[in-house]
Amino acid sequence: MSSPESNATDAAKRRAAVWAAAQIEDGMAVGLGSGSTSALVIEEVGRRVAEGLRIKAIATSEASQKLALELKIPMSDFAHLTHLDLTIDGADEVQEGTLYLIKGHGGALLREKIVAMASGRLLIAVDPRKLVKTLGSVFTLPVEVVPFGFETTVKRLRDLGFESELRMTDDGKPYVTDGQHYIVHCKLPQVGFDAVAGGEELKGTVGVVEHGLFLGMTSKVVIGRPEGIEVL
Ligand code: 5RP
Repeated sequence: MSSPESNATDAAKRRAAVWAAAQIEDGMAVGLGSGSTSALVIEEVGRRVAEGLRIKAIATSEASQKLALELKIPMSDFAHLTHLDLTIDGADEVQEGTLYLIKGHGGALLREKIVAMASGRLLIAVDPRKLVKTLGSVFTLPVEVVPFGFETTVKRLRDLGFESELRMTDDGKPYVTDGQHYIVHCKLPQVGFDAVAGGEELKGTVGVVEHGLFLGMTSKVVIGRPEGIEVL
């Protein structure tokens, strides 16, 4: 049985998702995010498409692609679309003030970043638990790495000062992303961490494909609240 707390979180996600999906206009090329909030966005987009909304979409994960196709959302790819008008995605953490994000706990950060970078606007839909004052205060930072020599990449990340652990599946194997990479979870220092400099350092580390810091990319954040929605 679900608790009142998880019911409230689900309702908040749905409220944010419905508002976010309503921002899509006829004729737009849209990026569809990953995770449970994005799944609610995709459901709502599917409902609007069934009612006649005409869009083309690109998904940020195999799971979102599958859901979108089931809902008969017209899907495209970067061979046919070079620019997206709007991407709607979730986040693990949103830093108040800067709107800097941690993303990737659903394992989709690389495609999410590629899609967001190809997008004119990035709209993030979250429930209130995702708002933080300091990045990394609730979640670790997912970093996508090449499987070959990942042990050495983890060591380099630790040498940079990040406590780092390879993400494992429940059956004890390394978690593999849609891009066939591994994920390393890095603990961010909670005092004096410079997200821009830290992101550059991570990006410059051999073996790292991409990290889950999304800095200066967010256009708007919509937060589902019990009394309605709040837009930052
Ligand atoms: C996946 C992500 C998701 O957007 C993030 O994990 C939030 O997911 P949820 O909406 O389920 O809380 O970055 O890689």
